[in-house]
Amino acid sequence: MYTQALDIPDADQRARQAMAPAAEAGEKALQAQFDAKIDADRRIEPQDWMPDAYRKTLVRQISQHAHSEVVGMLPEGNWIARAPSLKRKAILLAKVQDEGGHGLYLYSAAETLGVTRDAMVDALHSGKAKYSSIFNYPTLTWADVGTIGWLVDGAAIMNQVPICRCSYGPYARAMIRICKEESFHQRQGFDALMTMMKGTPAQRDMVQDAVNRWWWPVLAMFGPPDTDSPNSALGMRWGIKRISNDELRQKFVDATVPQAKILGVTVPDPRLKWNEERQHYDYGAIDWNEFWAVVNGNGPCNKERLATRVKAHADGQWVRDAALAHARKQQQRSMKEAA
Ligand code: 3HC
Repeated sequence: MYTQALDIPDADQRARQAMAPAAEAGEKALQAQFDAKIDADRRIEPQDWMPDAYRKTLVRQISQHAHSEVVGMLPEGNWIARAPSLKRKAILLAKVQDEGGHGLYLYSAAETLGVTRDAMVDALHSGKAKYSSIFNYPTLTWADVGTIGWLVDGAAIMNQVPICRCSYGPYARAMIRICKEESFHQRQGFDALMTMMKGTPAQRDMVQDAVNRWWWPVLAMFGPPDTDSPNSALGMRWGIKRISNDELRQKFVDATVPQAKILGVTVPDPRLKWNEERQHYDYGAIDWNEFWAVVNGNGPCNKERLATRVKAHADGQWVRDAALAHARKQQQRSMKEAA
């Protein structure tokens, strides 16, 4: 019986085999160049050679990030028509629009890695792609909108400022503008809550209730503990991730507790305590079962968020068709003029 081992290679196969050692040596040299750039903290650009795993990790993280920005428009978008004043409505409109813009920069950054926007959007709509757990919680009152600004955008800034130094150029550059806008988002949230805290007892209760509901999901949003974070080691090695999930979480707690004091709200954690020795706040245990349930599609609003997103995409099909038809017409016109 003949086996594949007895097959005689054809001319093409023989040529490929002859070239294999050279290709391997070439790949090793490229890998060494890539490693040297990473070690020297230089940027990798789209036209540069990069290992497949680096490309995949970036596509995974940047597309998840883009999806988070886009899905993140929904919980607050629900409140645009119910904002308590014209000023708050204008601020919220601008903020939600910014988040849409962040999604677009990030999809564009991911496209430089060879993945199409359609493939990324399909992955989100089919439930294959992840987006941030935090956007699967409901916005029950106006105080939730302020709390998202203060805590969720505050956490986002803490996590995203280090990404401005990410080794991949297009991602790092997109993050610079995004972080500037996130900073405005965080401040408008704090300002909205401060206004409510100076209001009636009912308004103050509303703020405290929102903070009680958002605090723990926000802490979980930084991702699993470092010991359970499978992507961290390579993310750090490649300069994609600069600060670990747990370190960022701690920085967030340390920065936010004094802000809560200024606001006059209680952080809903009986174990929260300044630790003189560590020079950090100690805080209670995060419910990781809840976090994974939400990440895996079983949070309070996952189904609603995805359904709304899919409907918005379908409803917007005519806009994309019209834009493409317009672009085709313009192209034909300029070709005619050039002829
Ligand atoms: N929600 C959903 N999934 C999460 C998550 C969260 N809060 N935190 C971690 N995960 C997922 C990871 O994506 C990973 O899944 P995968 O391997 O299937 O892709 C898994 O849990 C294990 O986590 P790791 O710590 O190993 O993953 P990473 O090293 O990628 O770290 C991260 C996770 C810290 C979120 C990192 O990807 C990151 O910094 N991403 C960029 C920032 C980002 O996406 N932020 C989302 C919020 S954007 C936002 O808030 C919008 C603003 O306008 C408010």
